Formats: sequence, C-alpha cells, structure tokens
Amino acid sequence: MAVIAKNCPQYKVTVVDVSEERIARWNSDNLPIYEPGLDEVIAACRGKNLFFSTDIPRGIKDSEIIFVSVNTPTKNFGIGAGMAADLQYWEKTARQILEYSDSSKIVIEKSTFPVKTALAMKRIFSSVKNGCQFEVLSNPEFLAEGTAIKDLEEPDRVLVGSMETDSGRRARDVLVDIFANWVPRGRILTSNIWSCELSKLVSNAFLAQRISSINAISHLCEKTDADVEEVALAVGMDSRIGSRFLNASVGFGGSCFKKDILNLVYLCRFYHLNEEADYLEGIVRINEYQKERFIRNMINVMFNTLSNKRICLFGFSFKANTGDTRETPAITIARGLMGENAEIVITDPKALQNARIDLQDADPRKVSFVEDPYDAVAGSHAIAVVTEWDLYRHLDYQKIYDSMVKPAFIFDGRNILDHRRCFEIGFNVYPLGKTALSHLEN
Ligand code: UGA
Repeated sequence: MAVIAKNCPQYKVTVVDVSEERIARWNSDNLPIYEPGLDEVIAACRGKNLFFSTDIPRGIKDSEIIFVSVNTPTKNFGIGAGMAADLQYWEKTARQILEYSDSSKIVIEKSTFPVKTALAMKRIFSSVKNGCQFEVLSNPEFLAEGTAIKDLEEPDRVLVGSMETDSGRRARDVLVDIFANWVPRGRILTSNIWSCELSKLVSNAFLAQRISSINAISHLCEKTDADVEEVALAVGMDSRIGSRFLNASVGFGGSCFKKDILNLVYLCRFYHLNEEADYLEGIVRINEYQKERFIRNMINVMFNTLSNKRICLFGFSFKANTGDTRETPAITIARGLMGENAEIVITDPKALQNARIDLQDADPRKVSFVEDPYDAVAGSHAIAVVTEWDLYRHLDYQKIYDSMVKPAFIFDGRNILDHRRCFEIGFNVYPLGKTALSHLEN
C-alpha cells in the first residue's frame, strides 16, 4: 500500500488493522517490520496520502477499493488440519465490509487464498441486498521479503483476475489503471479469477521445487565428490532452466512456500488427484529431510555426541535481510540440537526478538541469544550457518577460531563462507553439497 501511495499521489490510501499496537508502530519511527527501503517510502507518503488507523468501519465506508490482506494460516483444526487454509479472518473481514458499506466497492483478494475463494466471497457479498454492488478481484502478491520494495517498484508481472462479466472486467480495468501509474502495461496480466488464484500457488510451488531439487542433488554431490555450486552453475546456464533459486540450503523457510504447497496438495486430494498430490508433497518432504540431514551430519562429524557441546547458530531468520522467522529452518535445527543435549547460542542481526518468542518454551540453560557474533561464538565447539546474512562472510575467522574450543567445526548450511580459508585457519569445514575439508582422520 505504501508503494501504491508513493506512485499514485492522486489516490488516498488508508491501512486499517485490528491491532492498536501495530498501527501505533506504523505511525511511529519504529515500524513493526524490517524491510530495506520501507522507512523511506513511508516517510515520503505518511500523513500526505498514506494513513494508518484502527477505525475499520470508517476505512470501509470511505473507500471505493478495498484490498483484503488478512492472514490465511494453515488450518490447525478439523477437516484439512495441517494442510488447508484457515479462512476465518478472511470471512470475518468480508462480513465487516458488508456491514459497514453504504456504497458499491471493489474488493480485492490480496492474501494468498486457495482456489475458488473468490466464489465464496462473492456469495457472502450477494447474501444481503443493501443496494451496494461488490465486485471481487484477485491480485496476488509476488514480492519476496528482504527485496519487497524493489519487487513492488519493478515487478516481473502484476496479475489481476476478475469474473468474466462486464462489471468484473470494468473493476479489473480500475485496478490495472492503478498499477499502470508505474508498471509498464505489458507487465500487467489480466485473467479469469481462478487462473489468477491458482497462478500464485503454482508460482510458489515451482520456486520451492527448484530449491528441493537442488537440495536433493546436494546430498548426492557430497557422496560423489561433485560440487553442488558447480552443478547449479552448469545447469542454470541452460536458458530454459535459468540460474536463480538454485542455491542449495539447509532448507527453505518462510510463511509462504510450505503453506502454499500444502494448499495445492489439499486441493489435489479434494479433486482425488492423488498422484499429483504426492508429487507436490514431495517438495515439502525433501525440505524437511534436508533440515534433519543437516543435524544428523553434525552429530556424525562431532564424534556422535553433541551432549553439553556449545553450538553457535549464525542467523535465525528464514532468509537474509528480514527479521521474519516464520517456518525458518533455524527453529527445527535449534530444537534438534537441544534434543541432542547441545547448548545453543543464537546470533542474528534482526531476528533475535522473534527467536526468543519462537523458543520461549526451551530450557533457558540450553539456549542463549547474543547480538554480537564474536561474543556469541566464543567458547563454542561449532558454528552452524543457517541464514545467508552478508555480515557472516566478512567476519574475522582467525579471531573466531582463536576463541573457540578445539577441534572447531563449521557447518555452512548456506555455502557463504570462504571454506578453503577457514580450513587453512584450522577449522574442520562441512559445506553443503561439497567435499568436507577436515583435519581429522576419517
Ligand atoms: C516467496 C516468493 O519468492 C515470492 O515470490 C512470494 O510472493 C512470497 O513467497 C509469498 O508468497 O508471499 P519469500 O518467502 O519472502 O517469498 O522468500 P524467498 O526469497 O522466496 O525465500 C524462501 C526460502 O527459500 C528462504 O528460506 C530462502 O533462504 C530459501 N532459498 C531461496 C533457498 O534455500 N535457496 C534459493 O536458491 C533461494
């Protein structure tokens, strides 16, 4: 919404939320999320044509166009638990829109919904006849955290789906005109609403599938003395494949990939497409396996016991440049290591606050949170690189080595360190998908 406000000074944008605390932070200098470049955009528009408020009824009444961006977590109860999307927030919002509207509106699904949600939405809106017309559009978001502002300013594409009726197409044109203020028209795709909803889930499944594919190959590389980065380079230079999203990792995280794939799996099962569901579910399965494999490797290498060993996690967020820890592989790894009786120290430039919440039930003698990476690592037996923060590339590894218990280990779950140099300093280095560099006897 901030990027729309910035590029469309002729529109007034109001963001409403039930959380007083969150709105207060949006109105302060301490924004509730960390996202590079966001502060500047907010500073340029807030109070001019961008407003934050908890007055939801007024927000609904005063607007002609409403973007619904409530969360749609995975259902944790009843039919479809663990897979289907929980639509209760969305339904509540649709009912509020109905209740407070006294004029016609265009209502846009911005959250990621399962396919056919718009139909249910449309039914709610037509259930009461108060003379207002509601047109439902789908406009899925493709931004990635950490690069959100850039992704919004220069999107590969913007997708707008509508019902194939005259009023549907008219509403679609209104939304297309908003984006056309800064996005070239050739990049604004229109489609029927079901293709639009499905495209969002499928995009994420394809992206995640690339990571699961390269992660599966990383294991094979370790067995065959191939190097996964060399393989990814060779494969990615085929222009039909492309080079991005082929970085082997300790596993993908984030609030979207797993949830969206499980949604697709649920949809397939709903339509009795069991083979297809199994295929898609494999993307998530390999991802879980990759995290387990990382932990198992640490145990094997460190003489089959982690009991009372101190292990420092470099990074906790699900990727660099964000403080978001939802579904981060770090949670699984931290819990797995604590399950082996290791003592863990977590360091991260932006995610420590969330990490404390994620691990609040952990034994406080087993886990600590330290901002400074040099302080965090001192006295540790091993470093596990979990997040690809740039700062970890540039630390003084000689100084770090000197402060650690020997033999000192590095498990690079992101392949971002200079492995050869670390080995020469004295570390035993275990990258992903490459031959280990170890001073120990096999
Ligand atoms: C993802 C998609 O990239 C966005 O296009 C989409 O809009 C968004 O989900 C969403 O549905 O809202 P995001 O989850 O923010 O965005 O982050 P990604 O950059 O996709 O990274 C996801 C995970 O994959 C991270 O844990 C990342 O470290 C990991 N990853 C990414 C790899 O392990 N290897 C790679 O090569 C790339």
